[in-house]
Amino acid sequence: MPELPSGAATPMSLVDALRAVAGLPPKARASFCWGRCVRGTYAPSDQAKEITKSRSLTMPCRVLARFSADCGIANAVGTDGCSLRGFSFRLGSGNQRSEILTQSAPVHFARTSDQMLAFLQAHMPGPDGKPDMAQVAAFSAANPETQRQASYLAANPPPASLACTTYWGVHAFPATNARGETRFIKFKVMPVGQERRPAEDAVKSTGLWRDLEARIAARDVRFSVMVLLDRPGDPVMDVTIRWPDEDGREAVRLGTIVITGTEPSEACDAAVFNPANLAEGIGHPPDEIFAARRAAYVISRTRRR
Ligand code: HEM
Repeated sequence: MPELPSGAATPMSLVDALRAVAGLPPKARASFCWGRCVRGTYAPSDQAKEITKSRSLTMPCRVLARFSADCGIANAVGTDGCSLRGFSFRLGSGNQRSEILTQSAPVHFARTSDQMLAFLQAHMPGPDGKPDMAQVAAFSAANPETQRQASYLAANPPPASLACTTYWGVHAFPATNARGETRFIKFKVMPVGQERRPAEDAVKSTGLWRDLEARIAARDVRFSVMVLLDRPGDPVMDVTIRWPDEDGREAVRLGTIVITGTEPSEACDAAVFNPANLAEGIGHPPDEIFAARRAAYVISRTRRR
């Protein structure tokens, strides 16, 4: 049985709990462990400068990216099924570099680090390899907000292809433009060119990765990097709730990512995509979960070295 982390949540206890709940081998990522490394290009839109002065988002650049799927037992994920997926990408270079990590649900499963640790502990597999469902039910009843991510995925199963999936940055990021105006934005990364895409059934027979490879070869993996703009009173401190009318509100296209080729895993494994790496013009979200992430990614990277 995996060892349960105890005490108050820290980035380290969260990494330990993520690993334990998923029963991961020593060198695997603590989260989103199944993945494929790719490269591409980013071209900014004319509106990007209105939102941010970040050179990483307002200048054309190369992109290193990783598509991923969560393989934790708690989320019952399969690489061919419709579990939570991730898309991480690095834009810009040197100290003008931003790393944006997105997932196929607009909310996280915990509001605070303590709640995240408690969620993971409640889902920890027992000697039979399965979590205690009575314990899970009691935790969910007492913490209804931790169900929102699973409810979203159940109501909106992701399409079969990684290339057709919409990904969210989840947190509210303060963005500052060249005029010095700052407002909160949320990243939403949307597939482009859906209408020309082959039937979803084709993906199921080839698998996620082969489908992606074929689409990359056909230059058919493109995403718009969109931002949703804040309104007064938006809940920017709680990553378990969406902004009011989030799907209906104004979105601005910052730019387009085209995936142009595959990369060996080492190109993505050598370092870590860390959401705290943001070039000036996009600041750190103010919520507690984001603060924990900064250190957690470094710890996970050190462990899998
Ligand atoms: C709130 C929304 C979150 C999103 C959108 C998100 C997204 C992602 C993605 C896409 C990856 C894969 C990175 C890659 O491709 O290399 C990842 C990995 C990871 N995440 Fe998160 N995550 C979130 C929350 C958290 C939280 C709260 C923690 C812990 C405090 C956490 C800990 C980790 C760790 C440890 C890894 C593995 C890092 C590595 O070894 O490379 N994540 N996450």
